[in-house]
Amino acid sequence: MSAKVESLLAQMTLEEKAAQMVQIPYAQTGREASLRWAKMGVGSFLHVWGDEAREVQQAALSSRLGIPVLFGIDAVRGHALNDHATIFPTQLACACSWDREIVKEMGRVTAREVATDGLHWTFSPLLCLSRDPRWGRVNETFGEDQYLTGELASAMIQGYQGDDLSAPESIAACAKHFIAYGEATGARDAYDSSVSYRKVKDTFLPPFQKAVDAGCATFMTAYGSIDGTPLTADGHMLRDILRDEMGFDGFVVTDWSNVTSLVERQHAAKDSQEASLLAAQAGNDMMMNSPEFYDCVIRLVREGKLDEKVLDEAVRHILTVKERMGLFEQPEKMGKPGCIGCEAHQQAALRAARRSVTLLKNEGVLPLKNVKKIAVIGRGGDDIRMQYGDWTYFTHPEPRPRDPVRPYSTIREAMEKLAGEKGAKCVYACGCGPIPCAQDDLDGAVEAARGADAIVLVVGDEISQVGEWKDRADLTLSGKQIELFRRLRALGIPLVTVLQSSKPLVLGPIPEETDALLVAFNGGAHGGQAVAEVLLGEIEPSGRLPISFPRHSGQVPVYYNQLPGWHGGKYCDLPQGPRFAFGEGLGYTEFAYSGLRFDADTLKGSVRVQNTGSRPGLETVQVYFRDCVSSVLTPVKNLIAFQQVELAPGEEKEVQFQLKRSDFSLVNRKEQRIVEPGEFVLMAGHDSRDESLLQVRFWLKED
Ligand code: BGC
Repeated sequence: MSAKVESLLAQMTLEEKAAQMVQIPYAQTGREASLRWAKMGVGSFLHVWGDEAREVQQAALSSRLGIPVLFGIDAVRGHALNDHATIFPTQLACACSWDREIVKEMGRVTAREVATDGLHWTFSPLLCLSRDPRWGRVNETFGEDQYLTGELASAMIQGYQGDDLSAPESIAACAKHFIAYGEATGARDAYDSSVSYRKVKDTFLPPFQKAVDAGCATFMTAYGSIDGTPLTADGHMLRDILRDEMGFDGFVVTDWSNVTSLVERQHAAKDSQEASLLAAQAGNDMMMNSPEFYDCVIRLVREGKLDEKVLDEAVRHILTVKERMGLFEQPEKMGKPGCIGCEAHQQAALRAARRSVTLLKNEGVLPLKNVKKIAVIGRGGDDIRMQYGDWTYFTHPEPRPRDPVRPYSTIREAMEKLAGEKGAKCVYACGCGPIPCAQDDLDGAVEAARGADAIVLVVGDEISQVGEWKDRADLTLSGKQIELFRRLRALGIPLVTVLQSSKPLVLGPIPEETDALLVAFNGGAHGGQAVAEVLLGEIEPSGRLPISFPRHSGQVPVYYNQLPGWHGGKYCDLPQGPRFAFGEGLGYTEFAYSGLRFDADTLKGSVRVQNTGSRPGLETVQVYFRDCVSSVLTPVKNLIAFQQVELAPGEEKEVQFQLKRSDFSLVNRKEQRIVEPGEFVLMAGHDSRDESLLQVRFWLKED
């Protein structure tokens, strides 16, 4: 307990405490009203920066107690709402790197740029699991797996927060959305998740626990509900589990209008007063964009319906974070002047983009060699908005037409430059995009491609198909993209397909018929360059899928760590298993695994990996386990460790891994996390498919 915080709290009036618990959106509220809120001692603003933020801060500092305002922003892939900032690949694209350092660096660069704009706090990382790709927000996640998500999320939090939250370049992270948001029934955004608390604890809590352990300063309450209880009103989740069991000591902010929505959308409260009571009692400390909370909560305390201690506790959490951030001494973060969008940061975004490119098929056509003419086709190949996807200055705070700001390069631009340097010519034709439009010209694209030595066809989705409110019932490549593929394929020219999308899509005949398939997802400012470098063999593809690809929309969910089921758990009209599995990804070389060992006493294991091809490569060694007999069903396999190893042609290395007993735990019917001794299988190899994994059996004894 801090003396500074306690002394402030002791001086605060009921009104000042209520104001601390409010977060105001600047753009929607307007300057005058925002300044009034600041003078009332409001806790936080979101989506305002630069001079406007400075003016608001001055108003707050001139209020009776002069408590600084905390400024939050969705800097979820770099400080990308600022058009001059560095734009990274999406979280999903970065997750293809399976590289903690890449993700940590992304966090650090983002923090530096956000802090340089005078802001303190990003609503990131997003820790929901994308187990149903129809969901609109898959691009914001680290994919489908709880272990990978937890590892990358804690790296990102370390990047944002550094070792010291009060350092000029550190900002507060926000683990969101708590919890089970990605598991909404039917993948309908912000809808009810029909899951048990046991499952929540087993599957969805682990990444959030890692966020707590990494010292994450804030958590965000999800929009949805679990089995009918809105998270905003779920005191069991926010108090008993998050605070008492998980040990979280930061503050909890609601998502956008969560309190208002208890009345207007979820019909869980009859009016704002009841909604405010539910939200405060449940343990939400700060209310994002529910300004009515202010009057309601004051009235609730005055009428004796709410104990003022509930407000004290919330305000204590908020002030403690402000103190940890050093805001009482230095209300404005300094960052590093001149760093926004600087060359060093662009290089970091390029490194992330390079590591995110994932090769899924290559029938000997890549890297492109001895080509004089390359045809790049597809609207996404030359449209930076489509390359960026969601959560950049094109889409937020409001979607509006904006001029793109350099530096960036589209796939077309990067191919023209890089292929040009190698003496090859590139031609480009749009053909079509995911949404039909008047300029679609399939004939023109076929004509442009005729006579080329190779075709690079870019397919995918676009902004209107991505994000909140934009779940898809049908994941099939939309518009005329499959027709365009077929017509280009008929030319008989080597054909490389690049998927630039927010999520896995159903690709129809493409996986079977294309000569090579590359997944780029949304690679940010330098995504185009990264794709071109892989196509032309300047770099080795090293991405691995953090999410499985279904064969058909009706096949979802296809995440790899399914529970074992009767009758095969499959459909009679589709082959079993996903089209591409979790962990899959090729290089321009090959790897062979041998000698998997595991000692059940020390929990140390090792496996040998050899580069058996003729080019260098980076292999991601993936380790999975299965509990052979368990009191509750446990997945057919679960990722438990991964490590990356660089190997020259012919080189072999032994990769070692140290596991913990708790890695083999499950959550039992009493919702307790325990290890059940007995027989287990440990697996290691290239990806999650059985045929890619070596196996050893072992016994865990009683502790
Ligand atoms: C999203 C959050 C985001 C918030 C603030 C909400 O609609 O669900 O992820 O942080 O808006 O922009």
